[in-house]
Amino acid sequence: MIPREIIDEICYRCDIEDVISSYVTLKRAGSNRNGLCPFHSEKSPSFTVFPATKSFYCFGCGAGGDVITFIQKIENLDYVGSLEFLAARAGISIPNDTAYMEKETVSRKRVYEMNLEAAKFFRNCLFDPVLGTEGMTYLAQRRGMSGAVIKRFGLGFAPNDFTMLTKHMRQRGYTEEELIAAFLCGRSQKTGRLFDLFRNRIIFPVIDTAGNIVAFGGRVMDDSKPKYLNSSDTPGFKKSRVLFGLNYAKAHCAEQMILCEGYMDAIAMHAAGFENAVATLGTAITQEHARLLSRYTKRVLINYDSDEAGQKAANKAMALLDEVGLEVRVLKLTGAKDADEYIRTYGSDAFRSIIEQSRTAFDFKLENVLARHDISGADGKIRAARELAEIIATVHSGVERELYVATAAERLGVSKEGLANDVRRNRSRAVKKIKEKESKEALLSARNFGDRINPDAAKDPAAAAAEDAILGLLLLYPEHRKSVLSGQTVLENEDFFTDFGRRVFEAVMKMEASEGGFVFSAMGQFFHADEMGRMMRLTKEREKLQTNDEAVLASAVASLRQSRQKREARQSGDWQSEIARRRAEMKKKQDV
Ligand code: UTP
Ligand code: MN
Repeated sequence: MIPREIIDEICYRCDIEDVISSYVTLKRAGSNRNGLCPFHSEKSPSFTVFPATKSFYCFGCGAGGDVITFIQKIENLDYVGSLEFLAARAGISIPNDTAYMEKETVSRKRVYEMNLEAAKFFRNCLFDPVLGTEGMTYLAQRRGMSGAVIKRFGLGFAPNDFTMLTKHMRQRGYTEEELIAAFLCGRSQKTGRLFDLFRNRIIFPVIDTAGNIVAFGGRVMDDSKPKYLNSSDTPGFKKSRVLFGLNYAKAHCAEQMILCEGYMDAIAMHAAGFENAVATLGTAITQEHARLLSRYTKRVLINYDSDEAGQKAANKAMALLDEVGLEVRVLKLTGAKDADEYIRTYGSDAFRSIIEQSRTAFDFKLENVLARHDISGADGKIRAARELAEIIATVHSGVERELYVATAAERLGVSKEGLANDVRRNRSRAVKKIKEKESKEALLSARNFGDRINPDAAKDPAAAAAEDAILGLLLLYPEHRKSVLSGQTVLENEDFFTDFGRRVFEAVMKMEASEGGFVFSAMGQFFHADEMGRMMRLTKEREKLQTNDEAVLASAVASLRQSRQKREARQSGDWQSEIARRRAEMKKKQDV
C-alpha cells in the first residue's frame, strides 16, 4: 500500500482545478467548472470539475475520478506514475520504495530501462566499424543523413544475428519474460529459446515527451518485407498515443505542427530545419493522436504521401483534427512522393515555400470537388454546388462559411446568394447530424465502458442496480460506511454478485476500517482509471436523488440479499425450496 500521507499531500498540494486547467479550458458553471472533455470528442461541454469534492466527471463518456485519475488518463500513466508526475509538479519528493511501485507484472519503468539499454546496444553496433558498416553506409549514402542527425535521433543498427541483443540483455539481468514483454525478444516455438526480434535493420528509437524510449522501429536496407518492424504495444507504449519526433517538436510547435506518416520524413524535416514535424508510427492517425496534437499546437499541416492512399488518409486526418478544434492545412507536394524525397531533390528552401503555400482544408476539399465534376456544363455545376454547400454547412464559424461561399461561388461561376441559401438549408441538418453523432458516440462509449468495467452486471440487471445503489451510498456517506462496519447494516462480500461490485465493497470497507479511514483518492491504487470513472458515476447518480438515508440503504441491501438467495437456490439445484419460496412470496402478495 502507498502511504496515505503521500496521497493526501499530493491531493492537497495539487489543486484539481489548477491541474486540469493546464489541459482543458474551464468555465465557471455555478460552484463547478466545465469544459470540453479531453477524453472524447464533443462540441458542447459535458466535462465537469467539482472543486468541492476535488473530483471530475464527464457526463458524456463517463470518465471521472480525482486529480490522480485525471493525470493517469491524460498522461497515460499508471497510478504510481501519476503520483510521481504530480509530486514532481508540486515539488514533493516521494520515497523511492519499489515494494509498492511495482504493480504491473513488468512495469513501465522497467520497460523504459530495457529500451534504453537496447538503444545503447543498437547505437554501439551502428558506430562499430565492423558490425555497423552496412547500416552506416545506408544512412549516409542512400539517405543522405549527417552524423549529427544520426546522433540527435539516437539511430542504431540491429546486427544480422539472432542472439546478440538477447545475450547482451540477459547479461544485464533482464529476465526472459521481461524481454518478451518489452517486444525486444521473441520465443522460438521449436526450441523454446529467446531470439532477437530486430535483426539486420536500421533502428529508430521512439522517444516520448518525457524522454523515455518507449518503442523502436526497424527498417530493412533493401526491398524485403516488412519494410518497417515496429514494437507492438507494451506496458509502456500505446501506438495510438505516441508521435515520433514530438520530444523535439514540442519546443517548436506553438503556432503550427507538421504531421507526416514516416520516420524518415520526420527526420528529414527536422534535419532541414523544420523542427515542428511529427509522425504517426505506421498507423493511421487516431482520435487520441488528434487530442495529443491539440495540446501542443493550434494548427496542423498535414503532409502525407502524394499517392491516392496518402490523400485518403489526409481526408481522415482532416476530419479528426477538425473535431478537436485544430486549424488544419494540407501540403501539396509535386514531383516527389514524400517530404524526405522532396527535400533531398529540391532543397529546404523549396520546401519552405511549399509550406507557405499550404492550402486550407477547405481549399483542399474545393479542389477535390472541382476535379471530380465538369463545371463547364450546368449539370456538373449543379452537382458540384450541391456537394460544396454540404461541405460548407459543416463549418462552425459563420464568418468562415461566408468566406467559403464567396470563394466557391466565384470558382463555380454561380451567384453567392444562391449558394448561401443552399448552405443555410443544409446547415440545420448538419448541426443535427453533428449533435446526433456526438451523443451516439458518447452513449456508445459509455455502454462499452460499462460492459468492460462490470461485465457481470448484464447477467442480473436488478441485482446490479441494487449493488450500484449500495456502492454509491457507501462511497458518498460516512454514516453508511459506519453502519456497515459496525454491523448495524448487515452486508458482506458474498452479497455482491458482480466481481466489480465485490471488489469495490471490499476495498471501501477495508479502508474504512483502517487507521486513516476511507478516502476516495486512495482507491486509485487498487482500481483502474476507468473503474474510478465508474465509481464517480455511481456517486453522481446517487447525489441527484432526494433521499439517501438509512432506509434507502436498507431496501437496496434487502433486494441484493434477495437476489443472492435466488441465485444460491438456483445454483444448489434446490428447486423445491425455490418453488416453495416463490409460492410463499405469491401468497404474501395475495394476502396484502
Ligand atoms: P512508407 O512506405 O511511406 O515509408 O511508410 P517511408 O516513411 O517513406 O520510408 P522510407 O523513406 O522508404 O524509408 C510510411 C510509414 O509507415 C510505416 C512506417 O512508420 C513508415 O515510416 N510503415 C511502413 C510500417 O510501419 N511498416 C511498413 O512495413 C511500412
Ligand atoms: Mn520515404
